[in-house]
Amino acid sequence: MAKNKKRKLNPHSSGSKPQPSSKKPQKANKSTPAKRPDPTIPFQAEDRVLLVGEGDFSFSKSVVEHHGCCDITATCYDSQETLFDKYKPQAEEHVRYLEEEGQAVLYSVDATKLDQNKHLKKTGGQFDVVIFNFPHVGGKSKDVNRQVRFNQELLVSFFQAALSLLAAGGTIVVTLFEGEPYTLWNIRDLARHSGLEVQRSFRFVAEAYPGYSHSRTLGNIEGGGGWKGEDRDARSYVFQKKGGGTVPGAAKAVKPAPKTESGKRKRTEDGLASDDDV
Ligand SMILES: C[S@@+](CC[C@H](N)C(=O)[O-])C[C@H]1O[C@@H](n2cnc3c(N)ncnc32)[C@H](O)[C@@H]1O
Repeated sequence: MAKNKKRKLNPHSSGSKPQPSSKKPQKANKSTPAKRPDPTIPFQAEDRVLLVGEGDFSFSKSVVEHHGCCDITATCYDSQETLFDKYKPQAEEHVRYLEEEGQAVLYSVDATKLDQNKHLKKTGGQFDVVIFNFPHVGGKSKDVNRQVRFNQELLVSFFQAALSLLAAGGTIVVTLFEGEPYTLWNIRDLARHSGLEVQRSFRFVAEAYPGYSHSRTLGNIEGGGGWKGEDRDARSYVFQKKGGGTVPGAAKAVKPAPKTESGKRKRTEDGLASDDDV
């Protein structure tokens, strides 16, 4: 577990519940544009948070810097060398910040084998919240249905491995882009098959994490690669153990990847398969 350092909570880190207000709600009209509700933040400053599948660690940094978390274990799939090379120069800067703040940073952590990771075991292995934002296996296949299947397998194995690291009452948070092909992953079903249930879901607001910038699995792309993850609609799903108890032998079942409308793989303008978060 990361070294505890007392931090001042950023006033914008509201926890998950909106504060009650005594003011009368204002009616939206032409002169007063409708106000979006405050973003939901699925952790509290005092939580022990495990971050899985980080890209350049900008999300982890924001969680510490802007939300006052002081007990985080931030992990990525890449080795340190690969990471620093893929996300140059920002990953190294973000890691330095986290380490200076006394937080734990681990490399080469496989989300599907969290339960076997000896470094995680050393940290105490009990987390209030496990977060995997925008999980994606990368461009394994250009066939949409196969690509969906690979990502489903990643998620099911992640869910099963993460369960054993949850403290009592702990939650797993996964964020996905809205729309196809992500809806084809059927994340709620995958979680159910793994012994989890959805507690709630909410719009992911990237601006609630100042400094966060969505990382592509491939690494930095010159010119940004045509789209910015922060600008796309996304949703976070919060899962908890079914019934709040332990899960004996969670099922391995993965629903077959449903066919897209045409049954054919889709392609984007740049020639990549439409499941383009690579
Ligand atoms: C689209 S990127 C998102 C990165 C980051 N979470 C973000 O929000 O910017 C998908 C991430 O999933 C990671 N990933 C893929 N397979 C993984 C695995 N088996 N274990 C851990 N991470 C994995 C990739 O390394 C990559 O960083």
